[in-house]
Amino acid sequence: MKGKKIIIGISGSIAAYKIPMLVRLLLKKGAEVKIVMTPSAATFVSPLVLSTLTKHPVLIELSSNETWANHVALGRWADLMLIAPASCNTIAKMANGICDNLLLAVYLSATCPVMVAPAMDEDMWNHASLQNNLLQLKSYQNIVLDTEHGELASGLIGFGRMLEIEKLVTEIDSFFNVKQRLKNKKALVTAGPTYENLDPVRYIGNYSTGKMGIAIAETLANEGCEVVLVLGPTSLTTPHANIKTIQVRSAEEMLNACTTHFAETDIAVMSAAVADYTPTTLSTSKIKKKDEEFTIQLKKTTDILKQLGSIKSKNQVLIGFALENKNEKSYALKKLEEKNADAIVLNSLNDEGAGFAYDTNKITIFEKNGIETNYELKSKPEVAKDIVEKIIKLCQ
Ligand code: CTP
Repeated sequence: MKGKKIIIGISGSIAAYKIPMLVRLLLKKGAEVKIVMTPSAATFVSPLVLSTLTKHPVLIELSSNETWANHVALGRWADLMLIAPASCNTIAKMANGICDNLLLAVYLSATCPVMVAPAMDEDMWNHASLQNNLLQLKSYQNIVLDTEHGELASGLIGFGRMLEIEKLVTEIDSFFNVKQRLKNKKALVTAGPTYENLDPVRYIGNYSTGKMGIAIAETLANEGCEVVLVLGPTSLTTPHANIKTIQVRSAEEMLNACTTHFAETDIAVMSAAVADYTPTTLSTSKIKKKDEEFTIQLKKTTDILKQLGSIKSKNQVLIGFALENKNEKSYALKKLEEKNADAIVLNSLNDEGAGFAYDTNKITIFEKNGIETNYELKSKPEVAKDIVEKIIKLCQ
């Protein structure tokens, strides 16, 4: 980080009180730091403390008396702009190009990469508008950091806490030391559920959201990998520049997309919750209600992971998932063997906070060589990082 120029944009959130400590750590690592703030941020943290630490004036207004803050020069000065804490309001304005304060003017004129560290209460964090705005920021190639689970200013416990200062320093460190360890590699990732049509208005589906698989695709892409994401029906998307998304609906469509792309793939991660069975016949007209009981005949779908395992070459790394609620380890090992995968990521339904409906996951990875690695309960983006670290080792 030595010699790197960083602008920190502070917006109005209680987490702003942590920024002087962040500044100290960045200065210690040899970075030069300048601060811009929204007017409301100044009520949470003292500009005087920050100007004393950084040895630069803290800028809040676009102009004051006869001086004008040159936001264009500031935006061009930095190697990185970090918006921390990024409040719900500032994120919404950034997503929509609103420019009613100096921080936003610097953001809009910044020619350097921008990293965003959100901070807010859980209900705001979960609101669809905020999540859409974050997607919008990602589509501008801003680096959007996760939030942490913990105690919030409201007294509630949940997601929305700004990442701890030490973690922010790690993120900034790894930004400046981007290793792009998977540059020149291609990956195929499946994510989300599949829907098996019964008639024109009904289908058999499952509760998968695709969150885990999308996080894996994004983490691979951040390492420089070119990713094809085969995504079942879900409201989630990812606008990452290194990810090409192919939207599919049924297990058969997912299989076809995977077999088309597998030959050119170095890494395949099968995280989709694929239907194991599909209706034997598809009714072309709506099925009418008749008898007291009704039976649907189902036939097995092709197991995509197993199919790819049967044709994979020794240079291809193939990762599968196992979602179990009993005899977890023995079922996971059985899948590892039978599907010829290089590793199986086990989620146990017995672990609290793990599975489809959660933002968190707790995994164990079983490798073909007998190594078993257990991980703590983490947010899905953090779990994705653990999985990708393992993949990088398997690629060596
Ligand atoms: N899988 C697949 N194609 C299918 C079914 C599953 O590629 N038709 C993959 C999943 O993406 C996952 C792995 O197989 O990586 C294990 O899926 P899971 O549903 O846990 O296990 P199954 O093998 O389907 O067995 P069971 O449902 O009996 O546990």
